[in-house]
Amino acid sequence: MSAITEFVSTGKPVSAGERIPAGDAAAALSDDDLLQRYAWPDGDGVRIRLNFVTSLDGAVTVGGVSGPLGGEADHRVFDLLRRQAHVVLLGAGTARDEGYGAMRVDEASGAWRQAHGLAAHPAFALVSGRANLDPGSDIFANAPTRPIVFTLASAAAERRAALAEVAEVVVVGETSLDIAGLVAELHERGLTDVLCEGGPRLASALFDADAVAELCLSLDSLAVGGSGPRLTSGVAAFSRRFHLAGALRAEDLLLLRYRRARD
Ligand SMILES: NC(=O)c1ccc[n+]([C@@H]2O[C@H](COP(=O)([O-])OP(=O)(O)OC[C@H]3O[C@@H](n4cnc5c(N)ncnc54)[C@H](OP(=O)(O)O)[C@@H]3O)[C@@H](O)[C@H]2O)c1
Repeated sequence: MSAITEFVSTGKPVSAGERIPAGDAAAALSDDDLLQRYAWPDGDGVRIRLNFVTSLDGAVTVGGVSGPLGGEADHRVFDLLRRQAHVVLLGAGTARDEGYGAMRVDEASGAWRQAHGLAAHPAFALVSGRANLDPGSDIFANAPTRPIVFTLASAAAERRAALAEVAEVVVVGETSLDIAGLVAELHERGLTDVLCEGGPRLASALFDADAVAELCLSLDSLAVGGSGPRLTSGVAAFSRRFHLAGALRAEDLLLLRYRRARD
């Protein structure tokens, strides 16, 4: 298991070819330590936490998927963030490109969740404006609880009807996604601690609506070039300031946590 520690600079200059020394083994954070670092802040209402990994030069994909980025430490945090969430929110593009299956956590996470008063598995909410998800896929066929599909009134009626056989289909907007409506639907279901696992189009809509409370950003030390998407793609420019709320490291990977600045 790759060691994750607090990010601490020695305060001394780093010579060419060196890196800031990694924390010693004793400083490695346990899963409980990490869960504490990533605990949801107190507060009412829906909080959306976005989790992304990027290359050093800002790409969120390498060869069309995020898999080559982040490595073991990022996967560990990814799983622990799921462990704490009421619901995982996902764009249909990511579900299709990354081959998502049903929303199930492992046994240790399930036990932790139940000990903390949560359902054994997080709920799964997918956003597909065109209702373009395969109703026969593992996402639905193997789901521990009926997933939610957020879609638009403009989606083809047959596709919505087919998905309604296997999911709760909720219309949030006529021709464009109504984020406030989506948030209200989650709130109504008591799904307030929301982990959004992407992708860029959904993330853009959430940033644009100023609905991102927290960004968990894993910064990989690999630069990749190319024309792959950034964390936000395809929306007009916006400006949202965040405060740094945490910085961990695993070798050269930084695990950063930013909270929306409200001051
Ligand atoms: N590095 C990372 O951490 C990370 C995380 C997640 C994803 N990714 C990568 O991102 C890529 C996918 O990008 P993407 O932009 O296609 O992702 P996406 O946001 O997951 O999916 C876009 C699709 O989801 C639906 N959707 C999302 N936002 C919508 C909105 N505001 N209104 C209506 N429908 C909306 C639409 O589905 P329909 O087409 O069905 O209408 C849209 O085509 C993949 O290559 C994946 O590997 C990387």
